[in-house]
Amino acid sequence: MLSYRHAFHAGNHADVLKHLVLTLCLQHMNTKEKPYLVLDTHAGAGIYAIDSEQARKTGEYIDGIARLWNRSDLPAPMQAYMDALQVCGGGLKLKRYPGSPWLAAHFARAGDTLRFCELHSTDVALLRRQFRDEGRRLKVEQQDGFDAMKAALPPPSRRGLVLIDPSYEIKSDYPRVVAALKDALKRFATGTYLVWLPCLPSIEARALPDKLRKLPADWLYASLSVRGPTKEARGMSGSAMFVVNPPWTLNAALEECLPWLATLLAQDDRASWELQVAG
Ligand SMILES: C[S@@+](CC[C@H](N)C(=O)[O-])C[C@H]1O[C@@H](n2cnc3c(N)ncnc32)[C@H](O)[C@@H]1O
Repeated sequence: MLSYRHAFHAGNHADVLKHLVLTLCLQHMNTKEKPYLVLDTHAGAGIYAIDSEQARKTGEYIDGIARLWNRSDLPAPMQAYMDALQVCGGGLKLKRYPGSPWLAAHFARAGDTLRFCELHSTDVALLRRQFRDEGRRLKVEQQDGFDAMKAALPPPSRRGLVLIDPSYEIKSDYPRVVAALKDALKRFATGTYLVWLPCLPSIEARALPDKLRKLPADWLYASLSVRGPTKEARGMSGSAMFVVNPPWTLNAALEECLPWLATLLAQDDRASWELQVAG
């Protein structure tokens, strides 16, 4: 039984990092005409009302996207992400925040293919409703996202971006991420894979980045911590994105954005960022 609902967390600091990286990668996919597949293995509900009961209960977006809203000093690589947010929100007020499926559908072109997997029955119903008019380019499936990677890869066009964004509420998500990537790279070595990672004190969370660094592929690791880790602290001090076969433009774009984000989203004086690439 899954209890995690992304509506409680939509627009928090982790979403900002994840969705910025996703947007930068999708923009890069669009620089070539050849169509591509976007597979979102853990899709969530697709779009979130900022004034919903869930979002107001945690208020996580207040220390996330709300701190960026209406800023006039955005680093240039963040502009497309912020522009997309305004389209999603329907204007200048922050009313709705997009999930990864919304952003993928927004940036992908008519000839591209989108496949979204979500297991939670409430969220998959919301996702289906959100995209009911999309036609044949988009499929929503109530299916295990790790299993879907086996079936969907390699895509016929041999171009693809896979977002792997588990909630890690089940401990087996940690080994499953590594196993799914190992397997996917055997069948589709040139795909771009984006993995979201929580910065948590648990042994599993701390070990995951090193396990991913050992994969036989180029990678980029970007982390954003909004506060220092403390023994007492519950919850995430930050998050990271691990990108396998990153676009060559991603490192420079994040070098511009991460220091700005770490300053703006800081919750104490130990907020920090890190950017590493293979080799
Ligand atoms: C962190 S949320 C996804 C957020 C979304 N990717 C975004 O950025 O807007 C993780 C989602 O994965 C779903 N989920 C958990 N295990 C899954 C699995 N094995 N396959 C597909 N979905 C799963 C959960 O119900 C939850 O909605």
